[in-house]
Amino acid sequence: MKEYKRVVAITGVSRGLGRAMAEEFARLGHVVLGCGRSKREIEELQKELGAPHDFAIVDVASDEEVRRWAERVLKTHGAPQLLLNNAAMINRNARLWEVPAAEFSQVIDVNVKGVVNVIRHFVPAMLKAKEGVIVNFSSGWGRSTDAEVAPYCATKWAIEGLSQAMAQELPAGMAAAALNPGVINTGMLQSCFGKSASSYITPERWAKTAVPYLLRLGPADNGSQLTAP
Ligand SMILES: NC(=O)c1ccc[n+]([C@@H]2O[C@H](COP(=O)([O-])OP(=O)(O)OC[C@H]3O[C@@H](n4cnc5c(N)ncnc54)[C@H](OP(=O)(O)O)[C@@H]3O)[C@@H](O)[C@H]2O)c1
Repeated sequence: MKEYKRVVAITGVSRGLGRAMAEEFARLGHVVLGCGRSKREIEELQKELGAPHDFAIVDVASDEEVRRWAERVLKTHGAPQLLLNNAAMINRNARLWEVPAAEFSQVIDVNVKGVVNVIRHFVPAMLKAKEGVIVNFSSGWGRSTDAEVAPYCATKWAIEGLSQAMAQELPAGMAAAALNPGVINTGMLQSCFGKSASSYITPERWAKTAVPYLLRLGPADNGSQLTAP
């Protein structure tokens, strides 16, 4: 894909990798459409980056909230050229049989159904525009496993599978792929790694190389298992 200015839709921009990517894409002159649930952080980001960037309070687990968000921003900004399904959560470290049913459901609802809700409401417009790359955030734990994060692993292995299957459905000129972003010191990493999370890179440093990498993705990457540099 050429290095032109893109409209980039990113879920989960209130903190972590999503926020760092939103700031870096905006700094490079691209237009960011972002969402998250935390009202204060979303409003702060809107104030910080301003128009034409657009940040909305949306729970990706709600198909109806995603539908309304997509309908509004597709009208104002057109179809995104890059759709980043970044929003996700991790279960509190626990053996699988100790994970409460409600927590297990929430991890599935956000990490799997949330991604599909976003695909459902954005991809038809991208198909009409006949271009675009969809990147579904996976994990090292979408290709390997560890104890105490089984629910999270299950969702990221699902992301790898649905991304590859979806890649077979897209017309030539478009791409869908799963991305392992690496290991970055965010709230999510602190939840599963504890104090040792602080020895990993910051989201801001990660975004400096990850964003140019994401901008270089194109049709040749369709169906790939990507890993951020
Ligand atoms: N950090 C790592 O080392 C690492 C490693 C491998 C993979 N990943 C993947 O990278 C992505 C980003 O992770 P991160 O480390 O940046 O996580 P994080 O710091 O916990 O941030 C997660 C983001 O997702 C948003 N989010 C969560 N549930 C949501 C929902 N229902 N609707 C809308 N937004 C929601 C959160 O905002 P709200 O709470 O405001 O909604 C937040 O902005 C995830 O897909 C994660 O699995 C991260």
